[in-house]
Amino acid sequence: MVISSQPAVKPAPFEPGQDLSSPNRNLTPVGTTLDGAGRLQVGGCSLSDLARTYGTPLYVLDEATLRATCRAYREALAAHYPGPSLALYASKANSSLAISALVASEGLGLDAVSAGELLTALQGGMPAERIVLHGNNKSRDELALAARAGVTVVADNWRDLELLSELAPELSEPVRLMLRFTPGIECHTHEYIRTGHLDSKFGFDPDQLETVLRHLQGCSWGRLSGLHAHIGSQIFELQPHRDLAGVMADALALARSLGHPVVDLNVGGGLGIRYTASDDPPSIQEWVRTVAEAVVAACTERGLELPRLLCEPGRSLVATAGVTLYTVGSCKPIPGIRTYLSVDGGMSDNPRPITYQSRYTAVLADRPNATASDTVTVAGKHCESGDVLLKDITLPPATAGDVLAVFATGAYNASMSSNYNRIPRPAAVLVAEGQAELVQRREQPEDLLRYDILPARLASIT
Ligand code: LLP
Repeated sequence: MVISSQPAVKPAPFEPGQDLSSPNRNLTPVGTTLDGAGRLQVGGCSLSDLARTYGTPLYVLDEATLRATCRAYREALAAHYPGPSLALYASKANSSLAISALVASEGLGLDAVSAGELLTALQGGMPAERIVLHGNNKSRDELALAARAGVTVVADNWRDLELLSELAPELSEPVRLMLRFTPGIECHTHEYIRTGHLDSKFGFDPDQLETVLRHLQGCSWGRLSGLHAHIGSQIFELQPHRDLAGVMADALALARSLGHPVVDLNVGGGLGIRYTASDDPPSIQEWVRTVAEAVVAACTERGLELPRLLCEPGRSLVATAGVTLYTVGSCKPIPGIRTYLSVDGGMSDNPRPITYQSRYTAVLADRPNATASDTVTVAGKHCESGDVLLKDITLPPATAGDVLAVFATGAYNASMSSNYNRIPRPAAVLVAEGQAELVQRREQPEDLLRYDILPARLASIT
């Protein structure tokens, strides 16, 4: 995992000859091309035209990349796992009606972690039976919404079970349950996005697993259908996923020996993507093959009938489909130190650099292949010195009005965005075959006042 401490990376702009079968290995969306004037096009749309039409910052989402990635997971699971399988999109990576609808149409399921993500998925047309609800502190309302809709609830802790049993009298059907436990597997990723080690807020401690399974033996309101574990995110290694299969197969054996007819084994997500030229993640096919073979081997060794194999890719499913467009504004050269090039967005639309020191790759949308002669630091417009999107990157000389395209922003950008400094969130467009469609309207400053209330006694003092 390489979120931090990388050397300055030269932009490797428009990459022909991309890996179409595993988009997470590319810097740019599949089918990224140059138009006749040498300007960058995604989904057949010129990026600077999109910037002009929809304004900036703008999240651009390429439908072909998203669909290719969904297909890659679906087909790799079918090819490498002899039992039934389903990939669930971890919608925390980017939750919207349009993405929910696209992912549903590709036959995938979805993982939601809040009432908001759940409503988005359901209203986007994702069938409830393909949705799971996660969360280490679900509210009663979230659990009720999920249980009533027929969504599988991933019980993370005793409180989930307590609340569900209280809700039981209101439910017409038993709740379909999965149990999440901490597998105790370490992997090399940023400590904030590591979840499988024992010191994690997520899931039952493995020492408690037998107690929980015994507790659920007499449970009339719920039916345990699956087990879940997730080890972390932006992982390039395959071995931790192999190790996870053994740990999960042990848990499966235990659950079945205690009389639970567990059919689903959900191994979580975690496959990394290429943010910069030096990142070299495994392909979706390699990842799925590793996981599938390890689960088959672990089940065979223990004499277990193969479960349905579920996985939950988030980042690797949607990141590469996304490009963020910014307009360059002010420039501050500090002789002997650095040159700051400021853009019209920043940490509110992409908090990953300030949170995890994440590196990205960017080009000028209208001259992606011009000689990158300048070393600049691209800063956001927020009142925060750390609001830097790209540190020490090389770009061709850029001036105010140029459109900067930052790649691989489809995951954990929009979904982690904020209104810091009361800056409205960007619009999002979906591009396909030369057409762009607005899928998220741009917030307006007035929208940000919608929930403010000025008490009359304060209004009168102004
Ligand atoms: N399943 C569970 C239970 C998860 O907690 C996560 C991610 C996933 C699946 C999807 O993992 P992925 O395939 O995306 O690696 N905000 C951080 C990432 C946090 C990931 C949280 N859980 C970032 O921007 O890097």
